[in-house]
Amino acid sequence: MKVMARYGCDMTVVITGATGNVGGNVVAGLLERGVPVRVTSRDPGGAVFPAGVEVARADLTEPESLRAALVGAERVFLYPRTQDPDALVAVLPEAGVEHVVLLSASSAAEEEDAEDDFNRGGYLRGIERRLAASGLTYTFLRPDTFASNASVWRDTIKDSGTVPLPYPDSVQVPIHEKDIADVAVVALTTDRLNNAAPVLTGPERITLREQVAAIGAAIGRELTVVEQTEAEAREFFAPFRPPRFVDGVLSALRASVGATPEISPEVEKITGDPGRTFARWAVDHADLYR
Ligand SMILES: NC(=O)c1ccc[n+]([C@@H]2O[C@H](COP(=O)([O-])OP(=O)(O)OC[C@H]3O[C@@H](n4cnc5c(N)ncnc54)[C@H](OP(=O)(O)O)[C@@H]3O)[C@@H](O)[C@H]2O)c1
Repeated sequence: MKVMARYGCDMTVVITGATGNVGGNVVAGLLERGVPVRVTSRDPGGAVFPAGVEVARADLTEPESLRAALVGAERVFLYPRTQDPDALVAVLPEAGVEHVVLLSASSAAEEEDAEDDFNRGGYLRGIERRLAASGLTYTFLRPDTFASNASVWRDTIKDSGTVPLPYPDSVQVPIHEKDIADVAVVALTTDRLNNAAPVLTGPERITLREQVAAIGAAIGRELTVVEQTEAEAREFFAPFRPPRFVDGVLSALRASVGATPEISPEVEKITGDPGRTFARWAVDHADLYR
């Protein structure tokens, strides 16, 4: 806790994405440690935040709005949401920020993605490169698949107890958003993760079919997986996701049937805890499916 000792409780940390799954848990973790927090949202009036936080409006696609929200902040938890990474990255040191903790993704380590592919590996790697070159201290959190992706199943589970799925036997190592947040809190309150880029996974391999069963166990209801063809999956996702995104998801699922994806040791090394299982995530979020 060297840095906390240096800054004491005067250190202000700005959390973007504070209304999000990960950002909200980062806010909670910092408040538990008595760290002064300023949260941002594009629509702060429409959000409910814990007592005791400062609130500012910021839209990452308008870097000037972030500059105003950063006044007096040493550290920032940053969601990678911008069409103009140069302008966004420039604002941080100009506003006096010393350390940025970026919510990146494991795909940032995959060299084959193009840099301009918004929200995919190359795009994230482009932001990481700019931050590393900016002279700021950085931490790039590179989580793999989120357990919270399973929230997309809530409507069919509620309506019919079914989950339509392409490649239900694809294997994942899903991570609980609280484990990502716990690592972010270490990065934001100590110097242990300075200039590091840990890949973060959950503690176990689990298929999509087993994830559905874990949700069923959490809500005490037997659920049925309805296997989809790729064409059916494309049609299912068309209202919420662009075709390029769906292509990426389908090819990742296809490739991970019968795979043994790596389980990263980083969550345990950093937090001292092996990380929360998918069954735990399902219990924590059971109300989504009832
Ligand atoms: N799903 C996965 O498997 C996976 C894996 C690795 C990495 N990731 C990354 O994780 C992130 C999603 O995290 P999450 O689940 O915590 O998100 P989430 O719950 O969907 O919340 C998204 C957050 O982003 C904020 N936001 C969106 N657009 C913004 C903008 N233009 N300016 C400022 N804030 C903006 C929203 O804030 P307001 O609406 O309040 O402004 C909200 O707090 C994505 O960046 C994704 O690339 C996801």
